[in-house]
Amino acid sequence: MDALRILVVDDEAPQRELIGGFLKKQGHDILLAGSGAEALTRVRETRVDLVLSDFKMPGMPGIELLRGVKGVNPEIPFILVTAYGTVETAVQAMREGAADYLTKPLDLEELQLRIGHVTEQVRLRSAVRDLQARLVERHRLEGIIGESGRMQEVLALVKQVAPSDATVLVRGESGTGKELIARAIHFNSRRAAGPLVTLNCAALPEQLLESELFGHEKGAFTGAVAQRKGRFELADGGSIFLDEIGDLTPALQVKLLRVLQERQFERLGGTRTLPVDVRILAATHRDLEQAMRDGTFREDLYYRLNVVTIQIPALRERREDIPAFLEHFLLRFAEKNRREVTGITAAARDALLRYDYPGNVRELENIVERAVLLCRGRVIDLQDLPVALRPGERGTDGPEPQNLPDLVESIERQAIRAALERHGGVQTQAAEELGISERVLRYKLKKYGL
Ligand SMILES: Nc1ncnc2c1ncn2[C@@H]1O[C@H](COP(=O)(O)OP(=O)(O)OP(=O)(O)O)[C@@H](O)[C@H]1O
Ligand SMILES: [Mg+2]
Repeated sequence: MDALRILVVDDEAPQRELIGGFLKKQGHDILLAGSGAEALTRVRETRVDLVLSDFKMPGMPGIELLRGVKGVNPEIPFILVTAYGTVETAVQAMREGAADYLTKPLDLEELQLRIGHVTEQVRLRSAVRDLQARLVERHRLEGIIGESGRMQEVLALVKQVAPSDATVLVRGESGTGKELIARAIHFNSRRAAGPLVTLNCAALPEQLLESELFGHEKGAFTGAVAQRKGRFELADGGSIFLDEIGDLTPALQVKLLRVLQERQFERLGGTRTLPVDVRILAATHRDLEQAMRDGTFREDLYYRLNVVTIQIPALRERREDIPAFLEHFLLRFAEKNRREVTGITAAARDALLRYDYPGNVRELENIVERAVLLCRGRVIDLQDLPVALRPGERGTDGPEPQNLPDLVESIERQAIRAALERHGGVQTQAAEELGISERVLRYKLKKYGL
């Protein structure tokens, strides 16, 4: 436990000194106060990491001191010591912001434990706050992470084209954030208050997709029992995001082209032409130029869509962004899964920084969520990562930790794992081969979570 500056408040000198002496032996820096008033002066004048106060004191009782301390600095944890059987007092104190309470007679070991808990909570809270503050800074454009030069260019382009009504084609490998960028364009446009309607062109068979896009009249086809509005109509006044546009069939390409050129269409089975005020955003991971050469994608549609193209680089082409992504996803998934995972070991971080991410940001996101769930302690380690990322386990020479202690640990871990495998998990034999006692082996197994 880190050394703390603890203010011990009690009107009875022997009790004060007993507690103070004990905590001093634990390595803490101790301040003593014989009354609430004296304690409050101390808190105002010097740095105090924690207040431990008796409840019943002449003059200013503990609960009033608690209020006073919170008034000076609400972040200072306060532990109240009450007489046995005064539960209401304790409840009241917790309600007013006490971090914890203990009952007399004081069990010193219990005291030490509680102090540890309280300071850990404080440390975690401030770590989370720090992270959030740093993330807010990095969050430009609604939570999009991208400090790298390549992403800054993308974001600058987003800002530039968002306010206009120009059709935008977002391109990039799978999982690079195409949908995120399309959404950002909509929400930074003057249509932000209007609808954003999304349709994945690869997800539906042709006829269904057609009626999704344009809607249908009653009786347009078997099963069309009522009139239905299509996505274009629903997107009126807003934007439509056509995902996987490269997968559109030739017949639908023609129909889409017409909407792009004339901003009007008919429902399936309908005769009335409907005008529509909609901005078109599209995305694809396909090589549209190749598709044009192959004759599967219309050239005229291509030029209509390609008014502005935003190309999102693969994650491996902007590795500088990986640390920010790690922080962002770690925080998000720790919170979502209510796990107190606060960091990543140097070895694991190294592996994460070197990996190629064929699935881009989405893959990284999945890796972090999985690691948060697998992680046994507070820190993500190599064993929490998929095998493909772990050095020495995929046959090729993977990333090696850079600093000596991590390097030693990683070698030790590998040696232990290998010995255990050779001896079918029998610890006595593995320990003998490794030249260590069974007790030491058990300790190391626990340490490495093997
Ligand atoms: N720059 C970024 N900042 C924050 N999160 C991101 C960023 N890029 C991608 N993500 C996240 O990664 C995941 C994948 O992003 P998205 O769905 O936008 O990718 P995509 O290119 O549309 O993928 P696909 O081609 O597979 O549809 C999402 O959860 C998204 O929030
Ligand atoms: Mg997508």
